[in-house]
Amino acid sequence: MNVLDIEGVCKIYGEKENEVKALVNINFSVKQGEFIAIVGTSGSGKSTLLNIIGGLDTPTKGKVIIKNRDIASLKRKELTIFRRRNIGFVFQDYSLMPVLNVYDNVALPVTFDKGKRVDHRYIEILLKDLGIWEKRTKYPSELSGGQQQRAAIARALANKPAIILADEPTGNLDSRTTSEVMGLLKNSSKKYKQTILMVTHNEVIAQCCDRIIRIEDGEVYMEGGDRG
Ligand SMILES: Nc1ncnc2c1ncn2[C@@H]1O[C@H](COP(=O)(O)OP(=O)(O)O)[C@@H](O)[C@H]1O
Ligand SMILES: [Mg+2]
Repeated sequence: MNVLDIEGVCKIYGEKENEVKALVNINFSVKQGEFIAIVGTSGSGKSTLLNIIGGLDTPTKGKVIIKNRDIASLKRKELTIFRRRNIGFVFQDYSLMPVLNVYDNVALPVTFDKGKRVDHRYIEILLKDLGIWEKRTKYPSELSGGQQQRAAIARALANKPAIILADEPTGNLDSRTTSEVMGLLKNSSKKYKQTILMVTHNEVIAQCCDRIIRIEDGEVYMEGGDRG
């Protein structure tokens, strides 16, 4: 089953002489559980693509279909709920809430979701899997970059989303922490059958993924073979 279909997605920023064609006719499908690397030079459209898939930005043309729903058909409020339940975001700068401790940061997406009870057992498992259970009462400022990124990953996984969108999640980490964080993402995608789309500059990391989607000047120019 495809968890995601991108159909003819274009994104143009600005108008007339200021026009920037950030994405030009992007088409691809992603199966449940696939771990995909998105690579390309700076300014090629990677973040724009991820933001459009996550419903943080809208395409100028084309469709994003997640679990057989065209996300453009959702009203604003519906989209917010749909996004919270189906998509987990991991950003390069972690984007943790400074006034909340690790545990509360991770539980936040569930807390937001009215009518959904926080599965404390699941959050405990996540924090233990990610090696930050002992840090659960610490605040983001008390953690290293790698620990903050683990907390951000735990938060992205807390709602058991079908899709994880990660924009250069290891961009600010040293190489040892990078390979640890990569291992954690890979494990969780296997364990919870989650689909991951991860933007990376790191060719070695990209080679560890199931598939590589290369973007240049807003176009997909080559897809690596399926490595199963
Ligand atoms: N909000 C915006 N307004 C205008 N141009 C933008 C905006 N966001 C991105 N762009 C332009 O779109 C292109 C793709 O940007 P981006 O998706 O951030 O690339 P990447 O993440 O691959 O570095 C770039 O030329 C960038 O300058
Ligand atoms: Mg970017």
